Amino acid sequence: MAKNIAVIGTGYVGLVSSVGLSDFGNYVTGVDVNPEIVEKLNRGVPTIYELGLEDYLKRNLESGRLTFTTDIDTAIQQAEIVFLAVGTPQSESGEADLSQVEQVVGSIARNLNGFKVVVCKSTVPVGTNRWVKRRLEELSGKSANQPDPAFAVVSNPEFLREGKAVQDFFHPDRLVLGYEAPKAREYMEDVYRVLNLIHVPIVWCGLETAELIKYASNAFLATKITFINQMAVLAEAAGADIHVIARSMGMDGRISPKFLHPGPGYGGSCFPKDTHALVSTGASYGVEMSLVREVIAANRQMKAHVVDRLLKMTGGPGSLQGKVVAVLGLAFKAETDDVRESPAITIVQRLLEEGATVQTHDPEALANFKALFGDTLQYHEHEFDAIKGADVLLIVTEWNEYRNLDLERAKNEMRGNVIMDARNVLEPEKARSLGFNYRGIGR
Ligand code: NAD
Ligand code: UGA
Repeated sequence: MAKNIAVIGTGYVGLVSSVGLSDFGNYVTGVDVNPEIVEKLNRGVPTIYELGLEDYLKRNLESGRLTFTTDIDTAIQQAEIVFLAVGTPQSESGEADLSQVEQVVGSIARNLNGFKVVVCKSTVPVGTNRWVKRRLEELSGKSANQPDPAFAVVSNPEFLREGKAVQDFFHPDRLVLGYEAPKAREYMEDVYRVLNLIHVPIVWCGLETAELIKYASNAFLATKITFINQMAVLAEAAGADIHVIARSMGMDGRISPKFLHPGPGYGGSCFPKDTHALVSTGASYGVEMSLVREVIAANRQMKAHVVDRLLKMTGGPGSLQGKVVAVLGLAFKAETDDVRESPAITIVQRLLEEGATVQTHDPEALANFKALFGDTLQYHEHEFDAIKGADVLLIVTEWNEYRNLDLERAKNEMRGNVIMDARNVLEPEKARSLGFNYRGIGR
């Protein structure tokens, strides 16, 4: 049966979940503290760039099953299920900052007017869901114990990728549901009936197991990327081609070809913070997560490698002083406007320190990047405005439009001839045949 749901936090995860859960036939109220977000969403205007989102948003608003509000109290009172999708950013000491989660738990405790399932979709360290349960009991004076619990807690980590969030929500590789109370499982079976019907595998497990599945998955993927990046640096030094190496490794079914694309280091709002949080969690249990610690350090090194490599091409230390660098791509990956922990941030920062003038282009992320760098850079809507007069062309994000870049035109409009392709999107032979001094990563 369709459920009444409140989704707290309407960022990347909360908005996509709100839209998706209402498309499954549930009645959903998305809640955010930011009134501007709520106002736009109620008008059918997406507040993030995500392929396909606008259509789903409009369709479900029109159906009457979806609405957005800042009134968290009423939304919780009316809900049978409350999803937490607020942020869990990295704190200064490295662990996850749970203050947004704590705040929402306080709101739920105040509004516990009947049985509710509290579902944590935010990525939270192992032990958090049990803490939520304890805290709700303390604050509300009600018990989650069997046989007649006043509420139940479910850990439902989210695995969607930005840029493919809508597709991932409707066709996930698996659903992970950590729970204790049988009644909570019944409710979640209703919520996700549509995915069960299309045979999405569902992992029913304990709260702690669900929490750790999320961190293990993200840390493993971050490790895989970091491994191929380090191999790329070695391949380059040894005169080998990382793409042939990665493709051949991927032919082994045990390895798989996915997440073996070399680049300027992983970024985004998740791998960086979740790897740090996992190291902190390990420390709190007396377990040294030495491998993940190395991944974090090697990833930092990879971002530095891009500019070090470029400096070698332009004549060594100090050679970027007074040069114009066109940076194509600012988002942390293609198909998103998100610049959180984008490798472009570290790279552009370093270019400025080296005394370069930086002219940037990105199809979606210019505004978010400008919020960080202000007037220290130039921002262009068209890639050739960024390329014009540049000594160096540096590609940082793998937007499709860069794959077909008109290199002849670039050659004519640039002042210099250096291309550093940190995503390996161009054809090296073609670039070199036009007279470019071209370098990719690992080939
Ligand atoms: P986000 O920062 O985009 O969105 C969080 C939203 O919560 C914001 O709109 C904010 O205004 C709102 N908010 C904060 N406090 C609130 C409160 N007390 N009441 C109501 N709203 C409040 O975050 P996100 O990227 O969607 O990530 C959310 C969680 O999901 C994080 O734990 C993240 O690790 C996890 N996650 C993210 C992704 C992703 O691709 N972005 C994927 C999987 C998991
Ligand atoms: C990642 C995971 O893929 C999701 O499953 C997870 O839900 C999410 O984190 C999260 O927990 O928030 P996302 O950060 O959106 O999703 O993007 P990815 O596609 O995983 O890319 C992350 C970073 O790794 C990007 O900077 C990307 O450019 C880089 N990357 C990825 C590579 O450099 N090489 C690859 O082969 C793959």
